[in-house]
Amino acid sequence: MNKKVTQIISLMAVFGCIAIATTSCGKKNPNSPGVEFMPDMYRSPSLEPNMAYVSIINGKQTGDTLQANRLPVKGSIPRGFMPYPYANDTAGYANAGRYLHNPFKKNDANLAEGEVLYSKYCVHCHGAGGEADGLVAAKLAGPPPSYKGPVLMALPEGKMFHSIYFGKGLMGSHASLVSKAEIWKIILHIQKLQYPNGKEVAVTVADSASLTAAKVDVIK
Ligand code: HEC
Repeated sequence: MNKKVTQIISLMAVFGCIAIATTSCGKKNPNSPGVEFMPDMYRSPSLEPNMAYVSIINGKQTGDTLQANRLPVKGSIPRGFMPYPYANDTAGYANAGRYLHNPFKKNDANLAEGEVLYSKYCVHCHGAGGEADGLVAAKLAGPPPSYKGPVLMALPEGKMFHSIYFGKGLMGSHASLVSKAEIWKIILHIQKLQYPNGKEVAVTVADSASLTAAKVDVIK
């Protein structure tokens, strides 16, 4: 081995010892990884998805957390979700009555599904025939009106949908129990109870009892 190679090897050994000494010794914290030669390699300035970071400004923690996932743009809706366009107020109720119509056909399959759903979610108050004689109806402070009374006979299907979706009076919202499509199929069944002979459903914009006197605004 010539002299030059020996010199290079001993120089490398000296630097190696210095590097080991600076990185592994003299730290109070035994868990410290030592000097970071290239911090960017360990601590990427980019944000990882699904992580929350502490916010550091001028070397000081601000106490805020920085969420890597950004909020969706205002007005975004989840895929496959159709927002309900009418507000839960008097004007929304009136507009639903005017503009909301059943997209489902009155065929045997839809009627059969509507009847099953009705028997699960509605029958205990409204009764099998829609006469408000369900077992729970008698216990309510104000029993539901009969579907066959003049008020509900004239109730547009859009208002029915609105009331089932948001709830009304002593009836709670059913939005979390049945889907929008299921509500429409239940409405087909209710209309069958109201008009067993297949009479066309009334389209008069009538209000149900408690809302007759309320002021009604049309969509602007
Ligand atoms: C806890 C008992 C109860 C249950 C369960 C219930 N309802 Fe009602 N429902 C009522 C009462 C009480 C009213 C009267 C509300 C009012 O006008 O104050 C009513 C009113 C209605 C109306 C008239 C709404 C209007 O705008 O005047 C419809 C239509 C209706 N219910 C359908 C349904 C359907 C469909 C279901 C099942 C998905 C259902 N209800 C479940 C108690 C109930």
